[in-house]
Amino acid sequence: MKPVRKAVFPVAGLGTRFLPATKAFAKEMLPIVDRPLIQYAVDEAREAGIEQMIFVTGRGKSALDDYFDIAYELETTMRARGKSLEPLAATRLPPGALASVRQQEPLGLGHAVWCARDFVGDEPFAVILPDDLMVGTPGCLRQMVDAYERVGGNIICVQEVPREKTASYGIVTPGALDGALTEVRGLVEKPRPEEAPSTLAVVGRYILQPEIMRVLDNPTTGAGGEIQLTDAMAAMIGTQPFHGLTVDAVRYDCGDKAGFITANIALALARDDIGPSVRAFLADLD
Ligand code: UTP
Repeated sequence: MKPVRKAVFPVAGLGTRFLPATKAFAKEMLPIVDRPLIQYAVDEAREAGIEQMIFVTGRGKSALDDYFDIAYELETTMRARGKSLEPLAATRLPPGALASVRQQEPLGLGHAVWCARDFVGDEPFAVILPDDLMVGTPGCLRQMVDAYERVGGNIICVQEVPREKTASYGIVTPGALDGALTEVRGLVEKPRPEEAPSTLAVVGRYILQPEIMRVLDNPTTGAGGEIQLTDAMAAMIGTQPFHGLTVDAVRYDCGDKAGFITANIALALARDDIGPSVRAFLADLD
């Protein structure tokens, strides 16, 4: 079984739910407390043993690449002023660990993943959607890689959602259960609640076999007029093992305003430095 060494970060979406903030600025640069979403995603990948980060970017997203570069001017000035460079440590990746490819048009998540096909090559790979912030110990992708090392094939991260929310997710037709793993018998993107085969939803972490790129070579247009990753994954079921993993992690949907604010409050409360003052503020609201 080949190890999972590469992760694709599709970050070329328009981020319309966060306009105007995202007009000239990538959604993935929005901070949760003091770190942008992309930093949490890259840290999670590194914890899971990922060596190669592949960003699929679009127009106006150059800050994402710059963020992981050395900032000579900033660092020289900080050093001269005797300031610690420690807050920048996590932005340093090993040389060659970051590759970037453009998705010229936001045609959908499936298309964004396909844009990374030459970087992925013939290896299994992870896909991480940074706006799904997953907080867990070990990290969400680490848990998925551990499961992958047991059962191989394709593994998607799944969570139960309220039935009225199925139209916002890819939904699984579940098969046999094996602890936290559910066999995936079918997948449908954004079904109406009355048509959803279950309430088990796909959330933004995937371990996929490279053959999915061959499915995406001939894409179909799916829900919302977009090339959906869910449809390509559905076409793989039956040809390769396919499991959903219910991870032990809290998910914050930071592509959504309420989810973003909730994540900021939750992670601020967990911090030793600012937690007490945020808690005191919240207590005063009652
Ligand atoms: P979303 O469904 O959240 O879309 O994409 P969006 O454009 O980012 O945001 P809204 O809905 O307009 O506010 C899910 C993930 O897929 C990526 C996004 O960057 C996000 O990580 N994506 C989506 C692409 O990279 N390209 C696409 O064409 C579509």
